[in-house]
Amino acid sequence: MEKTIDEKTQGKALDITAHKKNNRKLYIESYGCAMNFSDSEIVASILSEQGFNTTQILEEADLVLVNTCSIRDKAEQTVRKRLEKYNAVKRDHNPKMKVGVLGCMAERLKEKFLDEEKIVDMVVGPDAYKDIPNLLAEVEDGKDAVNVILSKDETYGDISPVRLNSNGINALVSITRGCDNMCTFCVVPFTRGRERSRDPRSILKEVHDLSSKGYKEITLLGQNVDSYLWYGGGLKKEFKNATEMEKATATSFSQLLDQVATAQPNMRVRFSTSNPQDMTEDVFHIMAKHNNICKHVHLPVQSGSDRILKEMNRQHTVTQYLTLVNRLKEILPDCSISQDLITGFPSETEADHQDTLALMQQVKFAFGYMYKYSERPGTMAARKFEDDIPEATKKRRLTEIVDAQRAHGAYRTQEFVGKTTEVLIERPSKKDQEQWSGRNQQSIVVVFPKETYQVGDLVNVKIIRCTSATLIGEAVGLSKA
Ligand code: SAH
Ligand code: F3S
Repeated sequence: MEKTIDEKTQGKALDITAHKKNNRKLYIESYGCAMNFSDSEIVASILSEQGFNTTQILEEADLVLVNTCSIRDKAEQTVRKRLEKYNAVKRDHNPKMKVGVLGCMAERLKEKFLDEEKIVDMVVGPDAYKDIPNLLAEVEDGKDAVNVILSKDETYGDISPVRLNSNGINALVSITRGCDNMCTFCVVPFTRGRERSRDPRSILKEVHDLSSKGYKEITLLGQNVDSYLWYGGGLKKEFKNATEMEKATATSFSQLLDQVATAQPNMRVRFSTSNPQDMTEDVFHIMAKHNNICKHVHLPVQSGSDRILKEMNRQHTVTQYLTLVNRLKEILPDCSISQDLITGFPSETEADHQDTLALMQQVKFAFGYMYKYSERPGTMAARKFEDDIPEATKKRRLTEIVDAQRAHGAYRTQEFVGKTTEVLIERPSKKDQEQWSGRNQQSIVVVFPKETYQVGDLVNVKIIRCTSATLIGEAVGLSKA
């Protein structure tokens, strides 16, 4: 899910508009998935009620918060380095500065954080952000403060997020929290708890508010959006105990998508992340029904070997995955598909690796996110399997799948050359300030000369050439859509 976040914003301090009465300064950094970035906006909203404005200058912060990721060891190491940096700033410039750790590392390490990292004053898990004002009061009393209680129904649906580092065009809207899937390699079910969905009325209200503020594209967010199910509140796994009435009036993901796209026909709608085992054909039909739902599905597959998928406790086989992809292509021929893959999972043989390359060759994903397996303490894979693939082998296999993906990306971008594609302008291109950068519905980056167009315009762009990840073209006019 980290996919929608521009890598350059990773770890950058975020700013919110100044509020007159606010006189304390919050410095907040986010790492990891889009859900963390979305959560930081909720935290900024909670703290703006407590008199905090955000700052991008670490040295002047009264409170430093770091929203952390545990998905791979490397992500945790990055955060530890940042904590060292905060420590140095506190020592040299600002002894009164308080430091809080939010998110998945907070949940995973709990009180241990306070002992291990002397710099940390406050540890707050992903479901406890509403408690931050109380925890802050404890910290100000000179105590260490910890709340890592995972909740059955916390979705923060009633909080209106403060949009951080925003271009005023794209916004994240969270719709589910937690995950029940228990993939054996994954720490998320432990750090984010059981799955629960947010009331569709509060989702629709948030999207309406965003539209009235001029936002043009939203991404409905969840660890597993296809599993969305609203039946009046409560955990997804308790749906079986719901009343007949609750069952009859429940809202599924495709229904939610239909409602959002219908209510806001001028808002582009994206969603992430899909899970092959939970994604159903009705979602494809709703995507086909609405021009404003972007034709892109991020559909992590993790491996192309049935044996490894089984060890990963993924609830699908390669054939089932390919059947889903084929159905998607039949219903939505223009839809792009992207992947997540893990290489070097315990016991992965050269033949398993070849199976992954073969699956990639068959689908030719538009783009993807590929990782070396990183053992996470406490997960089923860590308990059951030895992390037995040598680092050099993991590295070589990763290079091979990344190279394959680059070739497939080039194949997919080439398909657009000579065609016209609809682009939402997001920002100036990093390489050339005279060019706009945006994405087409398929989530491929498109750059083209600015002319008189503006950020937020929906423009038809004729594609002239491409790289393996970017389309380069010229605008031919505003899109009527
Ligand atoms: N459902 C989530 C998945 C979260 S993790 C989502 O919304 O994106 C994102 C990706 O990180 C996973 O799809 C997987 O490919 C990768 N990943 C998760 N745990 C990992 C681990 N232990 N080692 C390496 N990669 C991992
Ligand atoms: Fe993790 Fe699998 Fe859920 S990758 S977030 S347990 S779908």
